[in-house]
Amino acid sequence: MTLPRVVIERCQYLAECSEEPGAITRPFATPAMRCAQERVMEWMRDAGMTVSRDNIGNLRGRYDGAGAATLLLGSHIDSVRDAGKYDGPLGVVVAIAAVQRLHDAGRRLPFGVEVLAFADEEGLRFGAPYLGSRAFVGSFDTDYLERTDAGGVTMAEAIRAFGGDPTRIADDRWSGERPLGYVEVHIEQGPVLERLDIPLGVVSAIAGQSRFEITLTGEAGHAGTVPMAQRRDALVAAAAVVTGIDAIARTDERMVATVGKLEVDPGATNVIPGRVTLTLDVRHPADAQRAAATKAMLGWAQEVGQTRNVGVTVRPVSERAAVACSTHLTSMLGRAIGGDVVAIASGAGHDGVYMSEITDIAMLFVRCKGGISHNPAESVTTEDVAVAISALGRFLELLAEQ
Ligand code: HGY
Ligand code: MN
Ligand code: MN
Repeated sequence: MTLPRVVIERCQYLAECSEEPGAITRPFATPAMRCAQERVMEWMRDAGMTVSRDNIGNLRGRYDGAGAATLLLGSHIDSVRDAGKYDGPLGVVVAIAAVQRLHDAGRRLPFGVEVLAFADEEGLRFGAPYLGSRAFVGSFDTDYLERTDAGGVTMAEAIRAFGGDPTRIADDRWSGERPLGYVEVHIEQGPVLERLDIPLGVVSAIAGQSRFEITLTGEAGHAGTVPMAQRRDALVAAAAVVTGIDAIARTDERMVATVGKLEVDPGATNVIPGRVTLTLDVRHPADAQRAAATKAMLGWAQEVGQTRNVGVTVRPVSERAAVACSTHLTSMLGRAIGGDVVAIASGAGHDGVYMSEITDIAMLFVRCKGGISHNPAESVTTEDVAVAISALGRFLELLAEQ
């Protein structure tokens, strides 16, 4: 079987590792994650790498080189709920394939290559994203350890149950010399490459991102007896907040705002909702605009609270400024792709936002059908994967020549 076909099959094989039968849901520090890690560790070893797992649960596969310097490759192997097969895993499996080619040829580069499979980029289980890359660069927020999942399990307990020591996460930070760079292969998760009918592109920058949890507290009551004029219905207030957020986001075509989760308590047909918790995710390529819009959205939520006599509390979860990719590494990646290369601003977040704290970053985007992602319909072609593996291989050679 050709290597590109192996890559596709491996992504499909990883898709079997899920917490939800019939869907791909692979949260941080779960049996599904362990299932995926066992498969990835085997592939890393087959490619001649020595493999370790750190306390947050990142896998690190190392392929030594002739010199002490290191190039970092990788992506994440956790997923969103009801995910596609390729968001994250494609980048890890393509990186392993590029190392496999070196190993099969008995080739050693003048630098080591480390392939990282991050334990949590999406933040599905605990709401906070980039746990793996934050730990890798030494920016892990220990306040996160008290966050609880839907079942009330704290992050610290989850890490311990998964075999890590939550008190030792900081010990695992990268302590070597400044890496030569971090390069991530990832599906585009957008329509540009398909529209231009080209298989690969590079990334100019990764949009900044703010995440919040907003809780609206009204008063639960009997659906049959409380007159409408006396209600403090948290869900009706939440509906006004959501539509107001949407209206603000639509005032700037480069902005996106999403309320992805909304929980209604007590959640019974005949009870007026007393409390609603919703999540807010705001992104924009320009940080000032994102900050201004976020302020307007949270201001609107408070205004709705006043008008409807409902309490509104806002809990910031994470905030990350936009990050530009390295022009040096990105132009080298462009030369590796060859021909006219399109640079795309990524609205999706990626681990490179934190990896940029310790090294230069670059990203190789792979065309995905209909630009669809965070959806089981996510798909790539074997031909495009073949082009991606070759481009990454050429990038390694260009870096070695440097
Ligand atoms: O949310 C994102 O942009 C990424 O998929 N974590
Ligand atoms: Mn994603
Ligand atoms: Mn991703």
